[in-house]
Amino acid sequence: MCGIVAYVGRKDAAPILLEGLQRLEYRGYDSAGLAVVSNKRLKTRKVKGRVADLAAAVPARFKGTTGIGHTRWATHGAPSDVNAHPHLDAGERIAVVHNGIIENADDLRRRLEADGVAFVSETDTEVLAHLIGRAVKETETLAEAVRRALKGVVGTYGIAVLDAERPGEIVVARNGSPIVLGIGEKEMFAASDVAALIRYTRQVVHLEDGELAVIKADGFSTFTSDATETAKEPLTVDWDAGHYDTGGYEHYLLKEICEQPDTVARALRGRIDDRFHIAHLGGLNMDARELRSFRRVKIIGCGSAYYSGQMGAQLIEELARIPADAEPASEFRYRNPVVEGDTLYVAVSQSGETYDTLAAVQELKRKGARVLGIVNTVGSAIARECDGGVYLHAGPEVSVASTKAFTSTAVVFALLALHLGRVRDLSPAEGKRICDGLRRLPEQIKEILTLEEQIRELAIKYSDAPGMMFVGRVRGFPVAREGAQKLKEVSYIHAEAYPASELKHGPLALISPELPTVAIVPDDELLDKNLTTLEEIRARNGRIVMVGHRATDAADDCIVVPKNENELDPILLTIPLQLFAYHAAVALGRDVDKPRNLAKSVTVE
Ligand code: AGP
Repeated sequence: MCGIVAYVGRKDAAPILLEGLQRLEYRGYDSAGLAVVSNKRLKTRKVKGRVADLAAAVPARFKGTTGIGHTRWATHGAPSDVNAHPHLDAGERIAVVHNGIIENADDLRRRLEADGVAFVSETDTEVLAHLIGRAVKETETLAEAVRRALKGVVGTYGIAVLDAERPGEIVVARNGSPIVLGIGEKEMFAASDVAALIRYTRQVVHLEDGELAVIKADGFSTFTSDATETAKEPLTVDWDAGHYDTGGYEHYLLKEICEQPDTVARALRGRIDDRFHIAHLGGLNMDARELRSFRRVKIIGCGSAYYSGQMGAQLIEELARIPADAEPASEFRYRNPVVEGDTLYVAVSQSGETYDTLAAVQELKRKGARVLGIVNTVGSAIARECDGGVYLHAGPEVSVASTKAFTSTAVVFALLALHLGRVRDLSPAEGKRICDGLRRLPEQIKEILTLEEQIRELAIKYSDAPGMMFVGRVRGFPVAREGAQKLKEVSYIHAEAYPASELKHGPLALISPELPTVAIVPDDELLDKNLTTLEEIRARNGRIVMVGHRATDAADDCIVVPKNENELDPILLTIPLQLFAYHAAVALGRDVDKPRNLAKSVTVE
């Protein structure tokens, strides 16, 4: 998705903007551009292609200490130099970079054209540049001009605006698309993602929807849409620049897979109470009595966050015996859901900025629901919108495909399930069993990572398959879904996940030597049923890769992982599938960290 970075200070802006844009590359984009103010004139450069192409297009002497930059992910108009941001008004006084979608752009464009404005691009963003360019001639401040222009705008935006007449000042505004300010020493930054700022500052301020900020070298001020000044406390971000390099690994994806012994340990740190075998989750902001009052748990999230929610629902039902289910937030928000007071809602998001999940949370809040967030990014929009929650502390996840955030979310769900269980009927002995199992996870993940070479060979062996089936039963089904999701998004091999029990109700017709199956076969009470499924597949000449706890002749290949408690096994069974997808993608020469058509944070509808 698009990325924004802005700088105002004493240094030349261009190198800082380029560095920031590089940090945003992981979000996915097709073109890039920047603008600086110099001698009350705007200087811009824009290219279709990578940030490196933009850097090559920026001359060595590109002076200007105030500037804005952008990576674009095309929505209105194809990727091209012209459609790349920043966009300028007719007088080339105003430059705008924009994330989000202006829904009434066509209407506004028609009106501006009727008024004699000539457009140069096909984008919705150019409308904003012209509107602000017109307003600025009639207002005393740039902030007022931006506010006035945005009054007639319907849609989502995070914007940064530069005025050639006011070097030393940038206005940013947010509505549905994140903007974060970074506070430096006699310099200020703004960006759509903390990643762009982390090299320069850890002190950040998140804007709320409807807020606008003016940044200057000596500080910032924030306002509501009706120009009332707001007081904001800076947050300290505990991520560092090291998280944003590959640390010697070939790809971020592999680095993040291999970080999981640590990230899982961090998700657990300080959260297990050995006296009562319960979890310590201070951020829930609810006491035992309140937690006992819920009769249902509903989990929402998108993509892998949703699949981790399915794992969470299973854990909650098993350990706390509360009916629980997960639903894609993108569906939930559109179906006018019945919201009940005795349901605990849990929103899951790595980025904390996924628009569908945020909109679903906002709808829930509007209807008076209690919503917890399981989020990785501290201070993100979803985290701020929820009544309470649990941070993953997994560090930034850069690769588009989620791995460490997935397992950390599942671990946090296990803690939540343990907690909900222990305030109900889960016995101390059972609580202790789960606590002990959770503690074993980091070491067991390390053991699984030692299987990488075997998994790499299997990935190469199966990477010529046109498609793969993933099957799992009950606890194994979310594992299968996440395995299929990983494989398809990074290797582009078609992958479908089915509950193993559903095979005979349709998909068995697809089984052939050309469609190998990855079967999740944990050593639990459903082992025999799963082995029967393998026989069914074999009888149709299907090839099978089994991921489980005991090798079996019923499969062509077996990946055997260490056993934990039945309820926690899904977390471990997911990891070989991440490695499998990664190595299949490498074998096929894919752009592993930035798969085609995908973005890391989906901040639009
Ligand atoms: C995961 O591999 C995907 N890239 C995607 O499904 C992702 O999980 C989804 O877009 C939700 O993102 P979030 O966790 O940042 O909300």
